[in-house]
Amino acid sequence: MSRIAYVNGRYVPHREAKVHVEDRGYQFSDGIYEVVALANGRFVDLEPHLDRLERSLRELRIAMPTTRAALVLAMEEVVGRNRVRDGIIYVQMTRGVAPRDHAFPARARTQVVMTAKSTKPHPAKYEEDGVKAVTVPEIRWHRCDIKSVSLLPNVLAKQAAREGGAYEAIFVTPDGVVTEGSSSNAWIVTRDGKLVTRALSNEILGGITRQTLMDIAREEGVEVEERPFTLAEARQAREAFVTSTTSYAMPVTQIDDAVIANGKPGTISRRLRQSYIAYMARA
Ligand SMILES: Cc1ncc(COP(=O)(O)O)c(C=O)c1O
Repeated sequence: MSRIAYVNGRYVPHREAKVHVEDRGYQFSDGIYEVVALANGRFVDLEPHLDRLERSLRELRIAMPTTRAALVLAMEEVVGRNRVRDGIIYVQMTRGVAPRDHAFPARARTQVVMTAKSTKPHPAKYEEDGVKAVTVPEIRWHRCDIKSVSLLPNVLAKQAAREGGAYEAIFVTPDGVVTEGSSSNAWIVTRDGKLVTRALSNEILGGITRQTLMDIAREEGVEVEERPFTLAEARQAREAFVTSTTSYAMPVTQIDDAVIANGKPGTISRRLRQSYIAYMARA
């Protein structure tokens, strides 16, 4: 089946989906995006994703191009035309097309593109053995709370992970504090069984999975602390994992050369992963 993309109100064959060379997303990464998972044909946590999308737009003073209801209809159409039941939809909005000039154009029409694709279940090995993460220096700007398409440091970080045989790269500040993963939020379970993840701020993206997982953990009676933790603490932790729309809760059993605990996914990570997968199935 050929894939269909959405480009500014039109449904076009994926290979013909194009934007203008003076799209400000292309020239300045002046745009934002969202990735929403689909489980059994339904969006997972759609409303919080749309809230974050609208917040990202507001923070950059990019106009929301349609009503939320119209956007959702178009999202459903993209999903339907691509016959996605389990997968993701990617939604990107940029400030518009205008002659190249750093300052905002006087008149610009928000450009919208969407693609959807089916995804395969994670390899069983990830669940059984966990994954490796590498650390990279935190070199990003101070507005990581905006889900901007400006992802060059994240691209370099993920490439470092790829080259290091790892699943994810974790950003660490010069004073040794973990911020988040290149495309995920980072968590540890301390020796005394507390779940720790960094509090929301301009230094991290407020992950939708982060919030849902936190709610699930609290419902299950796990104590959650929102505070920064150091790389040293993570290396000594009882468990570590990362969360995202596409990774769910992914156990991390090695950080650089340090094996976490006994090198196997811990009980809390495993349980929360299962609870999150069950939550997705109920979406
Ligand atoms: C930098 C960063 N942090 C965290 C996340 C996790 O966010 P979410 O759970 O909403 O997918 C992502 C997702 O892509 C990300 O790019």
